[in-house]
Amino acid sequence: MPVTILVGTQWGDEGKGKATDLLAARSDFVVRYQGGNNAGHTIVAGGYLLKLQLVPSGILYPHVTPVIADGVVVNPRVLLDEMQALGERGIDSSRLLISGNAHLVMPYHLELDKVTERYLGRASLGTTKRGIGPAYADKAARVGLRVQDLQDPKIFRAKLDLALKEKNAVLTKVYNRLPLDAAEIAEDYLEMGERIRSHIADTSAVLYRALREGKHVMLEGAQGTLLDLDHGTYPFVTSSSPVAGGALAGSGLGPKEVERVIGVTKAYVTRVGSGPFPTEDTGPAGTQMSEKGHERGTNTGRIRRCGWFDAVLLRYAARVNGLSELFVTKLDVLSGLGAVRMCVAYRYEGREYEDFPPHQSIVHKAEPVYEDLKGWAEELDGVTRFDHLPEAARSYLARIVEQVGVPIGHVSIGPDREQTLEVPAA
Ligand code: GDP
Ligand code: IMO
Ligand code: MG
Repeated sequence: MPVTILVGTQWGDEGKGKATDLLAARSDFVVRYQGGNNAGHTIVAGGYLLKLQLVPSGILYPHVTPVIADGVVVNPRVLLDEMQALGERGIDSSRLLISGNAHLVMPYHLELDKVTERYLGRASLGTTKRGIGPAYADKAARVGLRVQDLQDPKIFRAKLDLALKEKNAVLTKVYNRLPLDAAEIAEDYLEMGERIRSHIADTSAVLYRALREGKHVMLEGAQGTLLDLDHGTYPFVTSSSPVAGGALAGSGLGPKEVERVIGVTKAYVTRVGSGPFPTEDTGPAGTQMSEKGHERGTNTGRIRRCGWFDAVLLRYAARVNGLSELFVTKLDVLSGLGAVRMCVAYRYEGREYEDFPPHQSIVHKAEPVYEDLKGWAEELDGVTRFDHLPEAARSYLARIVEQVGVPIGHVSIGPDREQTLEVPAA
């Protein structure tokens, strides 16, 4: 059962890129299974600083085959630019495989993402405006174009004409925008299709065969559990399924292959875009997290909202993903706070909720119930062994394990691959 699933447990940006890069040392395949270039995954290793949007985070290892699987939505321009930028830095992406079933992000998806957000006004979701929602909507409505369509110009054009007829009507009549030109789009996309042709593969079959040979496969989530279309804080979510179940659907593998489900969690919480965030802290602690943690969007440059660690959220993530272990990141950012707080329950109308409340109104209005724990003054970024962490930092981690009931496998204390501590088994 050599499949490892790695998921974000909060609202994204937990450090999935860093964790995937580290653990990919022992993988043969690293697979992106959902999302698109709304993701921004950072890797700092071997003198490189990479900010990846579509290319899986195993790219730095020559022994890893990176895979973009069926459940991803691909903007081919972004992918080609990313591959070229990697090439210019001496990083070879010729091994990359792309599923023919992956859907394409089309120019009208970008346009619709922008105009619908504007139309929502104060109720806007704060999307990344990368066309992700409209691309998944077309997939569900069965009018999407897929990577495999790029291999057949006639079929591509026929599907495009059909889709564009409706899109142009909406763009011009509802949103007062200019129509898009099918011939221009087709020429552009088919030319890009030629450039990615050699990467297109039956990725589910490739992975299945590799697993039969005992190879190791790592499924790298984008976004996070609370941004999941079904299990997140709807409607303030993304349009795909980042949870562990989505990893299997998105890559075309069965559950019996899975050995580990790793939940990446920050030692505090951040969120970009709109939506509820019970432990958000706009005071000095939140400011320290934001500044010391450089909490600015990897992809869009937007400031991330910051707040205290939320055990209610993580218990929920443990449940809906079936987490087998945690990978805790950014513990170093909490150094120097007098005390560290941990939310252990929500309070709403006199009742306490230890489980994530099933009704959105409660989440929106919930007051966090905090435990105050001892802080630590020491900087952690130079620590090389888990048992060299200050006692208060270890107690903080132990309290997370008690609260969530899932063991911690790794603790990250800086952005570099090397700044990671393995946690000895209890
Ligand atoms: P992802 O989307 O989950 O891959 O996360 P991002 O890359 O968007 O955001 C995480 C940010 O935190 C990146 O800038 C990482 O380089 C950085 N980072 C990851 N782990 C640590 C850590 O342990 N400490 C610090 N200070 N930064 C970290
Ligand atoms: P990674 O993989 C953080 C958020 C957006 C917005 C909502 C919907 O780097 O963790 P979308 O463009 O997906 O329709 O936007 O989801 N969002 C992310 N937030 N990290 C991400 O990816 C995100 N991808 C989308 O900010 O609130
Ligand atoms: Mg990110």
